[in-house]
Amino acid sequence: MAEEPVATPPAPSPSRVTPLAAPPPAGRADFHYSHIDPFDAEEPIRQLYDTSIGAAQNGHGDNIYKQMRYFVLAQLAQQAAEQFPALDFAECGCFHGHSTHMISTLLDASSFAGRFHVFDSFEGLSEFQAEDLSAFKPTDEIRNTYRKRFASDFDKVSATLASFDFVRLYKGWIPARFDEVSECRFAFVSIDVDMYQPTYDSIAFFYPRLAPGGIMFFDDYGYKDFPGARKAVDDYLATQPKPGLFVRLPYASAFLKK
Ligand SMILES: C[S@@+](CC[C@H](N)C(=O)[O-])C[C@H]1O[C@@H](n2cnc3c(N)ncnc32)[C@H](O)[C@@H]1O
Repeated sequence: MAEEPVATPPAPSPSRVTPLAAPPPAGRADFHYSHIDPFDAEEPIRQLYDTSIGAAQNGHGDNIYKQMRYFVLAQLAQQAAEQFPALDFAECGCFHGHSTHMISTLLDASSFAGRFHVFDSFEGLSEFQAEDLSAFKPTDEIRNTYRKRFASDFDKVSATLASFDFVRLYKGWIPARFDEVSECRFAFVSIDVDMYQPTYDSIAFFYPRLAPGGIMFFDDYGYKDFPGARKAVDDYLATQPKPGLFVRLPYASAFLKK
């Protein structure tokens, strides 16, 4: 099939597109985002993304990779809510609540009758272990600074999510408070804690409680800064029968359908 001619894309808005640090490798297609739905101003998922990042963190911390990951996350969450309206949702790693606010907005607009359980230390990332080391965070000093950048304010996040009465926030280091939801069954679980051990603990706890047909989303799967996030998922799934579906996404995430 003949290639469509590619119009010169308009100049990117600096708030939405991170400039490339280097030109794309020779032979790779360039990325013409103006041809792709998620970046249309009228696209409802993009509007949801923008509203939620505004509510949670005044629009800070936006980047194109996150836009793409959350474009998928939102659709998976919505479909899980439609399929299992009476089951619960969970999220491990909420930071200021951007993804939590997106998912909650979708649940609020659906016939969701479950609870949305959200776990975070609110003190940042846990310690790097051997599985988490990479050339991108080369020294203890850089690693510790980075860990603390992910601290957030429990009261502020509670206020951001106050209008969603089905949300339950659990402050503490994973897995300390998981036993409070050990009797629940889940339609959807999102894991976004970056490091090997809490990712492993999260999948090991929630996977057996995920309904057949339920969905798990893994942020950071394949992100080279955090090799532990992928290894934890691979290590755990190697102990289980193959899920119904496991899909890697090209911008550092993956999801499965049990
Ligand atoms: C990348 S952020 C999550 C981003 C979030 N999904 C959003 O939409 O902005 C990672 C979060 O994981 C939390 N976290 C990392 N390790 C943890 C652990 N062992 N226990 C609890 N929370 C942890 C951090 O506090 C941080 O809020």
